[in-house]
Amino acid sequence: MNEYSKGLLWVISGPMFAGKTSELIRLYDRTIFANQKSIIVKPSLDNRYSDSEVATHDNRTRKSFIVNNIEELNEIVAKELPENVFIDEAQFFSSKILNVIDDLRKLGINVYCSLLNQTSEGHAFPFMDKKQDVSSLLVKADHIETFSAVCPVCGKNATKTYKIESSGNEVDVGGSNKYEPRCYEHWEPKK
Ligand code: TMP
Ligand code: MG
Repeated sequence: MNEYSKGLLWVISGPMFAGKTSELIRLYDRTIFANQKSIIVKPSLDNRYSDSEVATHDNRTRKSFIVNNIEELNEIVAKELPENVFIDEAQFFSSKILNVIDDLRKLGINVYCSLLNQTSEGHAFPFMDKKQDVSSLLVKADHIETFSAVCPVCGKNATKTYKIESSGNEVDVGGSNKYEPRCYEHWEPKK
């Protein structure tokens, strides 16, 4: 049996450059082909590639709602009444996201989240209010897809994100200008 009930929580997890947002877009497109009403939401903190779209590192995009906080996500859902909510960069919300997702699921809405599971220091990524971290979201999931990238040093699977130059900040929005995927052997914790 391979079917989930309504109120599904599906999490896409992994280091940077692993294809997490690409997978979120793939799953979103499937629901659109199936004539379901779906929306993509992402936090405004991540303005790396676009102000109105989710974007992959290789610049594949889909229209999305950009929200400043998790309360705004609730307002959009109330207006749009989607069957599926896709959340990109879930680690960049406050820990209230945990309750909001529970509430959406109780309404029978399917929730798909893509998240960076670890900081460049190798800790579970803390939500923005630092009260909980993404491991609290991972344990609630019905299904977790863990992606890996490719280590540029040896070509093996990269499960970590390496910070090229230390900035001292745990939260530091950026792309290949600041970070590289690395395998465990070639990674070192740095913030
Ligand atoms: P990505 O996983 O979609 O590539 O995006 C991850 C975002 O998280 C990116 O803006 C960089 C940021 N980030 C941090 O703020 N702290 C970290 O420790 C790491 C590894 C990434
Ligand atoms: Mg991404």
